[in-house]
Order: sequence, then structure tokens, then C-alpha cells
Amino acid sequence: MARVLVLHGPNLNLLGEREEEIYGRMTLDELNRELKEQGKAAGIEVETYQSNHEGDLIDQIHASRGRFDVLIINPGALTHYSFALCDAIRAVRLPVVEVHLSNIYSREPWRRRSVVAPAAWGQVCGFGHLSYKLALSAASNLINRKAESNDRYLP
Ligand code: DQA
Repeated sequence: MARVLVLHGPNLNLLGEREEEIYGRMTLDELNRELKEQGKAAGIEVETYQSNHEGDLIDQIHASRGRFDVLIINPGALTHYSFALCDAIRAVRLPVVEVHLSNIYSREPWRRRSVVAPAAWGQVCGFGHLSYKLALSAASNLINRKAESNDRYLP
């Protein structure tokens, strides 16, 4: 069975109570449950992990080598300054989909740059919880196309 890892970065554990007008009312547990259900329906096992620590997320990315087909990550504020996260993503060579609940390009100037984006295959942002679901659909698509093309990922 195909496997997708969903990583949530700093402060996303407070989803549902944190700046609800921006990030919505759904809790992280509810979101994770929905993603697992969506994955199941598509024949994908979805594992989720949240951490407030950069090094922890990097360890998870390293450990995903050979265990997952696609990585979905919302790096939270690390998006805007963590070159270490960018390097970790490049190092594992897994297809990565970057996700944001909010449209980072319509917010404060410091949020308008993602240093992770150059290492990602693509980015979904601005659709609230739907951003994650769209990212999982993209992951599912990549996995199916890989299966159809002699085990090579095609963008
Ligand atoms: C976020 C956007 C980031 O700028 C912010 O620091 C977050 C959440 C989003 O999902 O919209 O923590 O990644």
C-alpha cells in the first residue's frame, strides 16, 4: 500500500483555537482523521506527525526515506526562514507537497517568501483545510502516475 506522511510544523497543534479567523475551527485531530479517511478511500496509508521543533521535523524527514512515497508538509513559520528544512527535503529526494491553510502571499510581507518552496514539487495554499486535501489528491495522483510509468515519478 502506498504511504504518505503529513508533517505539521510549529503551532499547528493549536489548530481550532489559534486565530480561528485565519486558520479555521477544525482541530488538528479532526483534520488528521479526515486525511486518513481520504487516504484510505484512495488506497493510501496516511501517517501524521506534528512538532513545534525544527530538528524534530528534520529527523522525521530523514526517517521517511524509503518508508513513504510522498511527503506533505505545512512547516508553519519555519516556511519563511528554515534553510535546514529546505536542505532536509532536498536530501531525501522524496516528492514533497508544501501546504498552507492561509494564502501566505496575501498576508504580511515576511510571510510572502517560502524558503521551502524551491525544494518542493508543488505548493497548495489559501484554501484552509481543503489545502491539505488538495495536497493529498496531488500526492495520490503522483503515486498513480508513478505506478503507471515504470516506477518513476512524473511531475
Ligand atoms: C501557515 C502560514 C505561516 O505563515 C504561519 O506561520 C503558520 C501557518 C499556514 O498554514 O497558513 O503557522 O503555514
